[in-house]
Amino acid sequence: MDAFSYRGGCLNCDDLPAAELASQVGTPCYVYSRAAIEQQYRTLTDAFAEADPLICYSVKANGNLAVLELLRGLGSGFDIVSGGELFRVRHIGADPSTVVFAGVGKTDREIREALDAGILMFNAESSSELAAINRVAADLGTTARVALRLNPDVDPQTHHYITTGKKENKFGIDFETAAGIVARITDYPHVRLVGYHGHIGSQVTDPKPHAESLGKLIEFANQCAPANSEIEYINIGGGFGIDYQPGQAVPPSAFAKLLVPVIREAGKKLILEPGRYIAGNSGILLTRVVHVKRSGGRRFIVCDAAMTDLIRPSLYDAYHAVWPVLSDAPFEENGCGPADVVGPVCESGDFLAKGRHLPDVQQGDLLAVFSAGAYGFAMSSNYNARTRAAEVLVDGDTYRVVRRRESYEDLIQQELP
Ligand code: LLP
Repeated sequence: MDAFSYRGGCLNCDDLPAAELASQVGTPCYVYSRAAIEQQYRTLTDAFAEADPLICYSVKANGNLAVLELLRGLGSGFDIVSGGELFRVRHIGADPSTVVFAGVGKTDREIREALDAGILMFNAESSSELAAINRVAADLGTTARVALRLNPDVDPQTHHYITTGKKENKFGIDFETAAGIVARITDYPHVRLVGYHGHIGSQVTDPKPHAESLGKLIEFANQCAPANSEIEYINIGGGFGIDYQPGQAVPPSAFAKLLVPVIREAGKKLILEPGRYIAGNSGILLTRVVHVKRSGGRRFIVCDAAMTDLIRPSLYDAYHAVWPVLSDAPFEENGCGPADVVGPVCESGDFLAKGRHLPDVQQGDLLAVFSAGAYGFAMSSNYNARTRAAEVLVDGDTYRVVRRRESYEDLIQQELP
């Protein structure tokens, strides 16, 4: 199933013409497909079925409450990285025993809130954090379940900004240091070490680095058993890549083929934290052309969406396919002159696409920016006092605005005279 396809000269999201959505909701506007989210979730769970993993959807990819609710309904747990994300998953009534809490800088307040909520475990990233978890748990008269996040020093072959498991990255703990911590785990009597965690990076398109990391995690688990608890879980994080362009990614089954036999042999419970795989290609960003200008021998298509709506091109030089919503020839790049698709923000780094062969679009035309469901709205900002876009969830031939467009009043609401 392809949630976003051209029918009769117009891009559709499921059974709804995108042009209709744009005229009813306005632009810029994020459009998500319920069916696509569900299909991605099921494809992943089916691929790993033999290992019966706990899937903890990574809220940071797309934390809209409607998306979280939908995933909760499918049986997903959640991977969170802040008190704010905890608040979100509690708001939608997530089962706390399916929530894992990652991140290098958890504060005492966040630790307390998570313990109060009764989350499944923390993914702890330092001895300093273990001490804090131990202290807060003692205050509350409880014991905290913890997985130690290891840094396996594996290169996931992705953009350096989203590489997390190499030794120069701030994430996790190297094996030698971690072994020392495990040896002294009884120094933290309010901590019960139940797992090892190792997220190596994002948009990983080769399963081998994941397999290498899992192998290292299991070897560590075999060698470093805590004195007073059992290692039940191995959490390999997320990172499953998607097609921003055809043919980039491999299906989850290719990951599962390498990982499932190893985890079964080890007899541990597997946790996965997919974000992009679930949400990325389940969403697009709709934008309208405000002006077309030519200067310095270039064609600039100036849109009403900007880096404030989708920062990935500016931040990572990320490729997102862009194409007119009304088109008989989707992605027929031949014969179209190059253009830069830019936003109105006062930064030369404000672009959605560069040097693309796009048709001769006009002021008022609609463009779709594809693969925008993950790390799109989630990373948006109000820079240049821009109001954030609306978000819409399509279900078959109906839709629901799941976040209204921000107003000017919203922009100043928190400020004090
Ligand atoms: N687990 C942990 C501990 C993570 O740090 C992340 C992502 C995930 C799971 C989910 O990874 P995913 O399955 O989505 O690849 N803003 C960047 C991506 C940053 C990812 C940060 N951590 C982007 O737009 O590409």
